[in-house]
Amino acid sequence: MLLFNTFLLAILATTAESKIDTSCTAFQSRGLAKSIWQYYRFYDFRNIGRSGSYNEPTVDSKTARIVTDRSWTDDWYLRDYPRKSPAPPIIPVDFIPERVNITNSTDDSRDYSTFLTLSSARIDDETQEGGEITFKEFNVTAASIRVYARVHGIRGACAGIFTYLNDTQESDIEIFTKDPQNIIHYSNQPASTGEPDWTPIPGATVNRTMPDDTKWTDWHMHRLDWIPDRSVFFVNGHQINTTTLHVPVASPPSGIYIDMWGSNSSWVGEMPIGGEAWFDIQWIELLFNASTPSPRAKDREQKLCTPDSDMEVSLGVGLASMKDSWMLTLFSFILTVFIWY
Ligand SMILES: *[C@@H]1O[C@H](CO)[C@@H](O)[C@H](O)[C@H]1NC(C)=O
Ligand SMILES: *[C@@H]1O[C@H](CO)[C@@H](O)[C@H](O)[C@H]1NC(C)=O
Ligand SMILES: *[C@@H]1O[C@H](CO)[C@@H](O)[C@H](O)[C@H]1NC(C)=O
Ligand SMILES: *[C@@H]1O[C@H](CO)[C@@H](O)[C@H](O)[C@H]1NC(C)=O
Ligand SMILES: *[C@@H]1O[C@H](CO)[C@@H](O)[C@H](O)[C@H]1NC(C)=O
Ligand SMILES: *[C@@H]1O[C@H](CO)[C@@H](O)[C@H](O)[C@H]1NC(C)=O
Ligand SMILES: *[C@@H]1O[C@H](CO)[C@@H](O)[C@H](O)[C@H]1NC(C)=O
Ligand SMILES: *[C@@H]1O[C@H](CO)[C@@H](O)[C@H](O)[C@H]1NC(C)=O
Repeated sequence: MLLFNTFLLAILATTAESKIDTSCTAFQSRGLAKSIWQYYRFYDFRNIGRSGSYNEPTVDSKTARIVTDRSWTDDWYLRDYPRKSPAPPIIPVDFIPERVNITNSTDDSRDYSTFLTLSSARIDDETQEGGEITFKEFNVTAASIRVYARVHGIRGACAGIFTYLNDTQESDIEIFTKDPQNIIHYSNQPASTGEPDWTPIPGATVNRTMPDDTKWTDWHMHRLDWIPDRSVFFVNGHQINTTTLHVPVASPPSGIYIDMWGSNSSWVGEMPIGGEAWFDIQWIELLFNASTPSPRAKDREQKLCTPDSDMEVSLGVGLASMKDSWMLTLFSFILTVFIWY
């Protein structure tokens, strides 16, 4: 009995950050693109291979799943083929599984002992290695993607969190190691006019400063919400930008990608030979719809759940957040009256 309780406590402790009940049948996100979602995933890399890590059995594992063990690779491809170079001086990106690693942490933290690392390194003049993972369970029609991560290392690499169908159906968060440590690029493709000038298209791409003097070298939640008519970009709970231009279509559906790469281009920068840069990830949370509807989508009774990572969502400054707090006040008033009776 004691052992069983300890086991239960261990489960409660490890799921603490995702805080969603896997008996939920539908999921809710907050923010400007707030939506109801049919599927939920939480990939937790914080204690991989340690006691207490497990793949949580769920009511319907297709609808909601929390994975805290090595079986996360069942749901993600580790890319093992290169991206070709369009022309010199750009070199190919040699994506290999060896650049996707579970790292034993040397940080002083009780919250995590491991994390996922995607890395990119300049091996020689012609070789730039990179790491990329692709969500393989479903073709996705819309999503809220949250990645708790940091980026560090030498100039010449790009950390990407994005949806991709083709070069004109793509929504991106991109962090370049050559940039100041508080600048992030957000784009919907096409983001520029292409050859020969590559002029950025206003509204399709922005370079934004992170909120509250934060830097991407520290741990933050980077979030991309993609719904049929809008992309919204967040750092932690703060909306940083949004666009309705070049939003990827729902059909045909897209894939979800996370990567770290370099290519010696003027865009990503030139990494010196022997250099390396890292994209460390504690967890990935996905709320999404897919071209295959969830088996629970037609249930008459839905158990609707909101992940904890949504609790502090703010729409930046201005009316929107005031409206939220106004509604909250009204709600607490009604609740108070209700309890009173
Ligand atoms: C996802 O699917 C649900 C159930 O069909 C639907 O209510 C919701 O609007 C969809 N969300 C998006 C962002 O398309
Ligand atoms: C890498 O880029 C730099 C700067 O554009 C260029 O001088 C160099 O020749 C490139 N390297 C290769 C192998 O093309
Ligand atoms: C990552 O793990 C692989 C084994 O899968 C190993 O060969 C490789 O050296 C590791 N890479 C790094 C950068 O630690
Ligand atoms: C990480 O730690 C685990 C458990 O302590 C150990 O088995 C494993 O060999 C370590 N991996 C590396 C790459 O050091
Ligand atoms: C996604 O769509 C492609 C193309 O239609 C199909 O080949 C593939 O099986 C689908 N994958 C999943 C996981 O649904
Ligand atoms: C990308 O996919 C969209 C939607 O199917 C299509 O209209 C467009 O022509 C494709 N673009 C490219 C560059 O293949
Ligand atoms: C963002 O910064 C990059 C340089 O890293 C620059 O090429 C691009 O034009 C900038 N985009 C905008 C919209 O200012
Ligand atoms: C998006 O970024 C652009 C360029 O920095 C800025 O002008 C615009 O106000 C931002 N929009 C929102 C909604 O944050």
